[in-house]
Formats: sequence, structure tokens, C-alpha cells
Amino acid sequence: IEPSVTPQLMMAVGTAVIGSLQFGYNTGVINAPQNIIESFYNETWTSRFSEPISQSTLTALWSLSVAIFSVGGMFGSFSVGLFVNRFGRRNSMLMANVLAVIAALLMGFSKLAASWELLIIGRFTVGLYSGLSTGFVPMYVEEISPTSLRGAMGTLHQLGVVIGILLAQILGIESIMGNDSLWPMLLGFTLLPAILQSVLLPLCPESPRYLLINCNEESKANNVLVKLRGTENVSEDMTEMKEESRQMSVEKKVTIFELLRAPVYRQPVLVAVMLQLSQQLSGINAVFYYSTGIFAKAGVSQPVYATIGAGVVNTAFTVVSLFVVERMGRRPLHLTGLMGMAISAVVLTLAMALLDQYSWMSYVSIVAILSFVAFFEIGPGPIPWFIVAELFSQGPRPAAIAVAGFSNWSANFVIGMSFPYVEQLCGPYVFIIFTVLLVGFFIFTYFKVPETKGRTFDEISAGFRQSTGRGADKYSASEEFNTLRGDDPDL
Ligand code: GLC
Repeated sequence: IEPSVTPQLMMAVGTAVIGSLQFGYNTGVINAPQNIIESFYNETWTSRFSEPISQSTLTALWSLSVAIFSVGGMFGSFSVGLFVNRFGRRNSMLMANVLAVIAALLMGFSKLAASWELLIIGRFTVGLYSGLSTGFVPMYVEEISPTSLRGAMGTLHQLGVVIGILLAQILGIESIMGNDSLWPMLLGFTLLPAILQSVLLPLCPESPRYLLINCNEESKANNVLVKLRGTENVSEDMTEMKEESRQMSVEKKVTIFELLRAPVYRQPVLVAVMLQLSQQLSGINAVFYYSTGIFAKAGVSQPVYATIGAGVVNTAFTVVSLFVVERMGRRPLHLTGLMGMAISAVVLTLAMALLDQYSWMSYVSIVAILSFVAFFEIGPGPIPWFIVAELFSQGPRPAAIAVAGFSNWSANFVIGMSFPYVEQLCGPYVFIIFTVLLVGFFIFTYFKVPETKGRTFDEISAGFRQSTGRGADKYSASEEFNTLRGDDPDL
């Protein structure tokens, strides 16, 4: 029987990805109102110390306000394992909303309180929430989805992120909320999704895998599955979960320390971490944090609208990936995305270097940036976030998601902080660094990343156990999989 997208499944996934939307919104929201908020910092400083703020202090305070979000993300993502097994997946997501509400209030009232400190603490707090979300959401979504829809459902996490970015870009337009009087509401807006998610989550089921494997609640798990799948006949899912449960009596709960030490996990941990790095070190957030400046340097006359154009392309191509990921698989999409980004980065570099000779090069730059973004969303955007949940079974999954999330957010932080400086050093050639990294990640993916499409969690980890068992680095994981499962992708 073909598993179907039931209303219950969509309701649960839709509610969960409100957390992804929050992550995206707060990634994008700080770009447009920079000048306005900076002048608020200046006014506050002047009224406190009766002298204007120096440019270097202002730059430092602003960078801190932007980057502390990823520091919060690093802490949040690393803490995922403290929650998910103790409180369950759904309740963990529910509890995290306390952070989103606090953050919204801190940021929303910072102007009234004449305090940039509140804004900065608020950014840190919403970073904590976002870090937790990037663990909780893919974990929950992957655990409740039928095997053949895991990739598409997992991509909805990224769709939530990109819609959040786009929403922030649009609401940040000066005539909407990106102005002197309304910017506190622009930042405080994050309250609304938090309330919505808190109201809807209690109506969503707990992950049946958590119920069966972690809590040993077989009949509850069965009931939830019947609702999610829209059919009484869920024996196939139940059998598969029981098989995973049997494995888990061997591996039990795995701590982060055990995960990093045990040889069986070495290969999947390497793959998970490298995929996160390929996502962030592709340079995507150089575009999303600094696009306005990049467009301006590339000679574009209306950089704000070009930035929104990037947000639209970003969303459109995530939708493309959503529809093809179950047909084409994860590997081909990730590889295509990385290569496409590498080529776009070369074109962008050439266009920026030649801008002085040919003014029409600014159009080439726009096209190159948009295609850079489009290729990102084909694979490197959505796939790393959900594939980690696929690479591990129930026991090590929370620890693996914590380690992967932490790598992602750390790299995010490094790019966010260093891009402006590196750009000053390298001028138009800054994207060449990303090209080199992208080619490196392409080679790694080609040799080391297995296809997970259509395979159960248990089959995937069995594939890794086999390749470690043979003690062979001679075989790449992907070759292992192809020999193991045959080459027919529909097996
Ligand atoms: C991914 C990245 C995030 C980036 C976004 C862009 O979700 O994790 O850092 O801003 O894609 O769409």
C-alpha cells in the first residue's frame, strides 16, 4: 500500500515546522533594519553618556547583536539530547516556546526600556530556541513520517526556514515595519508563531517511535500510527520499529561522548558533520546576512529588492527540491547543488572582477547570486538538516543530532563573524574560497555519503555497521550501500 499524506500527518508536520519558521525569521530579520537600530544604539548611548557612540563601538555592538544569535544556536542545538528522551519530542518543542516568548518580549521592549542589552539578550534567547528547533523539528518529522515520504517531509523543515527568511525580508521593508517607530514590533513579531505553535502542539501526537522504543508503550504507539497513516493496517511500521527497538536493547541510549568514541559510529558521524559543514561553508549565509552590501558592490542599484528576489528564489527552489527528493534521492541532489554553487561562485567572482570594465556585469552578478541560492536549495539547504535523523537509529539519534547541529551552528557563527573581514582582505575574490570548499565537499559527498532514500532507519544503520564490520575504508559507505541493496533505487 502506498503511504499517503494524511491530514493528521500534515497537521503534525505543519505545527512542528513553525519552529523552523522562527529560525528563518530571526536569521533574516536583522538585515534590513540595521541602520535604524544602529541609530537607536547611538541615541541611547548619547543619552546615557552624553556623547555620541564611536564608530568602532557601534560596529562591535552591532556585530554582537547579529552573531550572538548563532552562539545561542550553538548552545541550544547541543542541548537537544537533554530534552527529547526525558520529555518526549512533542513536549520538548512545546517547552521551548517559553524561550521564544521571553525573547520576543525582550526584543520588543528594548526600545521602550532604552536598552540595547535587552535586544542582545533577546537575540541570544531566540538563538537558543532556534538551536533547539533545528534538532527537535527534523527529529520529530523524520520519526513520524512513513519511510517513502521522509525526504519530502524533512524538506518541509527547510521550507519553514526559507519562508521565515522571506517573511522577515518583506516585513522589514521600510514602509511596513522596517522603520524608526515599528522596528520593535518587527523583532517582537516572533511572539505570534510562538503562541500559534503552543496552541497547536497539544493537538499533535507524540512520536510513535518515542512511545514504542523509549517508553515501551506499544498500544499508544499503535494508536498514533493508525491516526498518522490513516489506516488500521500499521503492522509493517510496527514490525520495523520493533526491529529498531531490538537493536536499541544493544545500543541503549548513547551519550555524546560514547557517540564520538565508538568505532561503529565513526563513519556516520563523519558524514553527518561534513554535510553540516558543506551547508554552512558553502557561503550561503554570506548572502543572507550581507546580501544588501554584496549587491551594492556588484553595482546593483536597488539592493533591497534584489535581496527580496534572492528570498523568493530561495523559497521557489526549496519547493522544487521538495517535489524531486523522493524521486531522485539525496545524493544526486546534494552533488548537483554543490557543483552548481561552485560554478555560480566562479561566475560571480569573474563578474565582480570585471565590473569596472563592463557595467553590464552587474546583471551577470545578480544572475550568479540567484543561481548560487537556487542550487543551495536543491540539496545543501534541506538535505543536511534531515539526513542526520536518517543516518542513525533511535539510540544514538539524539546525540548525533546534537553533534551535527552544533557543527552547523558553529560554522554559521564563523562565517557570520569573519565574512566582512575576509571580504575586506580578498575584495571580489572572496567567493573563490567558497568555490574551493564546495569542490572539496563535492568530492567527499561523492565518495562517502550513502543514499538513504526509501531505506528504513534500521537498514541504513545496518549498512554502516557492515562497512565498519569489514574494517574497510577500502569501500566507501555509498559503494557499500549499492552492493548491499542492489542498484535498483526502488528496491
Ligand atoms: C539553511 C541554513 C541556514 C540558512 C538557510 C538559508 O537552513 O541552515 O543557516 O540561512 O538555509 O535558506
